[in-house]
Amino acid sequence: MSVHVFKLSHVSSCLSCHRLQESLLSSASGYRNYRGVLNWCVVMLVLSNARLFLENLLKYGILVDPIQVVSLFIKDPYNMPAACLVIVSNVFIVAALYTERRLSVGCFSERVGLLVHSINLSVTLCFPVTIVLMLKSITPVGGASALGVYTVLFLKLYSYKDVNKWCREMSHAKAHLYYFVFAPTLCYELNFPRSPRIRMSFLLRRLFEMHLILFMICAVYSPHWSLICLQWMIPIIQSSMKPLEVNIIPLSSLSHQVPNHLLWLIFFYWFFHSSLNFIAELLQFGDREFYRDWWNSETITYFWQNWNIPVHKWCLRHFYKPLLKSGVSKWLGQSAVFLASAFFHEYLVSVPLKMLRPWAFMGMMAQLPLAWFVARFLRGNYGNAAVWLSLIIGQPIAVLMYVHDYYVLHYREGSAGGGPE
Ligand SMILES: CC(C)(COP(=O)(O)OP(=O)(O)OC[C@H]1O[C@@H](n2cnc3c(N)ncnc32)[C@H](O)[C@@H]1OP(=O)(O)O)[C@@H](O)C(=O)NCCC(=O)NCCS
Repeated sequence: MSVHVFKLSHVSSCLSCHRLQESLLSSASGYRNYRGVLNWCVVMLVLSNARLFLENLLKYGILVDPIQVVSLFIKDPYNMPAACLVIVSNVFIVAALYTERRLSVGCFSERVGLLVHSINLSVTLCFPVTIVLMLKSITPVGGASALGVYTVLFLKLYSYKDVNKWCREMSHAKAHLYYFVFAPTLCYELNFPRSPRIRMSFLLRRLFEMHLILFMICAVYSPHWSLICLQWMIPIIQSSMKPLEVNIIPLSSLSHQVPNHLLWLIFFYWFFHSSLNFIAELLQFGDREFYRDWWNSETITYFWQNWNIPVHKWCLRHFYKPLLKSGVSKWLGQSAVFLASAFFHEYLVSVPLKMLRPWAFMGMMAQLPLAWFVARFLRGNYGNAAVWLSLIIGQPIAVLMYVHDYYVLHYREGSAGGGPE
């Protein structure tokens, strides 16, 4: 009897093609591999924007003039103030290096060292602002690039000063500054983790990506504007000038949210994946965590912790944790970090445009109440959707505000700035 039952169950198990299981898309299945869906999103994004781009091309023709693209960076090939400004930044690196050497051999006391570093750091921030504001020959894009370099340098030199001081306290200071200046990190260490060798195929792939993406951006880049705007954004922005005047900014921003958001995503990949990995591979810099899975953010806090790891690490190590250690509350510490970040965002936009507006500053400061709201009222997918919405809609509003103000200042007939130069 039992043999019979065993045979029956064996036969039925051989014939059966069903078992107790959940559908893959139900959360109870535990299935997590959505790589294919991600690829689908990318393909859809490319296809839908290719259509938009083709429509735009047919309607407006090619607005791209390579000479004018170059003129975004330089006005006169014999006068390149932005490039000179970047070269001059070496003075601040050498000053920091010299100060550390003096400190390490005891020629400078800690007090003198701190004073010299503080002056050096302050001048690192103020000097480029003075030059950009004074020189008429510097373009907004050139100015923004130079200020970007100086901001990164400021953060690096601050980290360099801090870490060397910590090491002196543990009495084994060394100063390898130039490797650090080029390494894709803002946080100084005496011994960075190093990769065993340079992988040529990896390096070339990243280099190819960097150029391809730059070409893509330039191919759809308007030469007539000194601000980042895609060819297909110009007509939208121009037509949105009227609604802006009657303060329907959110509506205008909705129409250019897709190209703006696409540009931002492309920039993310170009900078955080292709470029930083390229530099890291070249320098055999081992820590490649330049970003984490910010796209899964269910809270605004998670987004800021994961999208720009070099800046987040610097904020934690040199600003937030020291504040907490000195007895400041968590909330105040976070507000202080966002305030500093808001200052730098404004610094990088307002100075090159020579137009003091608070939009970038307000955009950053708005993250605090937004983070509270999302954490308090939204969970899971709703939280994730809120983060995406803030990225897709929030950013274009800020960009549009600058584009609008810049347009009114420089291009509107009879405006103070006159016509385009
Ligand atoms: C403000 C900010 C630094 C807060 O970061 P956070 O990760 O949310 O902060 P948390 O309170 O969770 O704590 C982080 C760290 O501090 C530590 N910490 C928390 N309370 C502490 C305390 N009282 N004392 C010491 N350490 C403490 C935590 O253990 C944690 O350490 P870990 O990183 O080693 O795990 C972050 O939101 C940020 O980087 N914002 C700005 C980002 C930005 O402007 N980026 C610009 C991109 S363009």
